[in-house]
Amino acid sequence: MPSKTQKPIVAGNWKMYKTLPEAISFVEKLSQLTDENKATILLAVPFTMIRGVSEKVEGTPVVIGAQNMNDASQGAFTGEISAKMLKEAGAKFVLLGHSERRQYFHETDEFINKKVKRALEEQLMVILCVGETFEQHESGQIEAALETELLGSLQDLKEEDFQNILIAYEPIWAVGSGKPASPKDVSQENEAIRAIITKKWGKNVGDSLKILYGGSVNPQNAKDFLNEPQLNGVLIGTASLNVDDFAKIISQT
Ligand code: PGA
Repeated sequence: MPSKTQKPIVAGNWKMYKTLPEAISFVEKLSQLTDENKATILLAVPFTMIRGVSEKVEGTPVVIGAQNMNDASQGAFTGEISAKMLKEAGAKFVLLGHSERRQYFHETDEFINKKVKRALEEQLMVILCVGETFEQHESGQIEAALETELLGSLQDLKEEDFQNILIAYEPIWAVGSGKPASPKDVSQENEAIRAIITKKWGKNVGDSLKILYGGSVNPQNAKDFLNEPQLNGVLIGTASLNVDDFAKIISQT
């Protein structure tokens, strides 16, 4: 049986929102509103806030990470940021392969694969996002799409690398649309992801793989996903921007 983590994971992705003072007041209020020990709380914040927010949450269970990085260790790549820089600023993890990166910045599985390897080399935990388009969903191509993204983005990884990888299943049509996937669909795709990983890397890796669901999760529907026996948690965009909403989701774990 796939293992559930002892604590569910509630991850937030702030995208390109908030200022540093807003971010600081968010984490201050979060600790007042909720028992942070109930869940593993991850927040993927904009680059400029990583240091300030990491310092603020020191000694609490809240873990700060980034939303992207470059695959190179350093170099003449104007405007890019490296895994080392993220770590130095206080990031403990990085989101990679988010559908907005794939869609608007044309990131390929090959590029994402290089980033995954670099992040692991620098001991940053990775949340790899995968998910099908609406067309793939409607035409029965979901599992084929997941297989392409998973095998492409995780190519050459070794069994032990998976200790530092979380998979976020985020159907593209559900991200930011207000229309989440049904818990039944999520459970089915969750199984499909485990099966793809098991086939390639073996039962140990498949069974211990941690999978999150993301896509229009909010305080009203979070319980449906948190109750799914094989799901390890949720990845939240819009509802992670509002501290009351985010705290409500955490309190349902
Ligand atoms: P959403 O975003 O919760 O606003 O759908 C999810 C995500 O982008 O990870």
